[in-house]
Amino acid sequence: MTKITIAIDGFSSTGKSTVAKQIAKHFGYVYVDSGAMYRAVTYFAMQEGFIDASHFNVDGLVEQLESVNISFKFNEALGFAEVYLNATNIENEIRTLEVSNFVSKVAAISEVRLKLVEQQQALGNQGGVVMDGRDIGTVVFPDAELKLFMTASAETRAERRFSELIERGDAVTYEAVLKNVQERDYIDSNREDSPLIKAKDAIQIDNSHMSLQEQFDKILTLVNTTLEK
Ligand code: CDP
Repeated sequence: MTKITIAIDGFSSTGKSTVAKQIAKHFGYVYVDSGAMYRAVTYFAMQEGFIDASHFNVDGLVEQLESVNISFKFNEALGFAEVYLNATNIENEIRTLEVSNFVSKVAAISEVRLKLVEQQQALGNQGGVVMDGRDIGTVVFPDAELKLFMTASAETRAERRFSELIERGDAVTYEAVLKNVQERDYIDSNREDSPLIKAKDAIQIDNSHMSLQEQFDKILTLVNTTLEK
């Protein structure tokens, strides 16, 4: 059976990665979390002192980009690939609200995007890939056989992300998470390079009132229909 490329884009915390992992597992496809790569560069920028609450040394970060090596290693126990920065597993470190608060600024830098998009295209060039992000159907894989665009209300998304962070044991407030979700929506949708927009041929799915099972079933049907074409 031919292996297709599935591009899942959408706003933050819309459950893209949850359904992308489920679909990849079901079809034996590779799942690539492109957001994890932008988070990894952001974590690097924070560690190296290029970004904090009061300053952002864009030129300094861009100059050091060559030394940023991002890779994924499949973790059998977890059932998905974890992200590594220069051989260190940073899967947990990149999921903090602090990283979320800086990531959209880092992701707006064209040099960062150029580097990561090249790597994303190399990871998916054989097909049989489910990749989620903001520009997968528009920039990374404009010819993807199936494109989805996920939305949900900002409040629903903030509640989901707040629960995830609390479950991890992070000390965050719902208000801070909602503010982050709204700020990232704005920056991601309004940046000059590869803004978050729905590809013309993407199917929009609002999952505000869908259970995980309903969402999976709907998307599974869409994938099967695409495979039959
Ligand atoms: O999981 P969540 O929805 O919070 O976001 P993510 O997928 O981890 O992405 C984090 C951030 O990376 C986004 O808010 C974007 O600023 C950036 N990103 C991007 O610009 N392009 C992508 N293809 C993926 C993520």
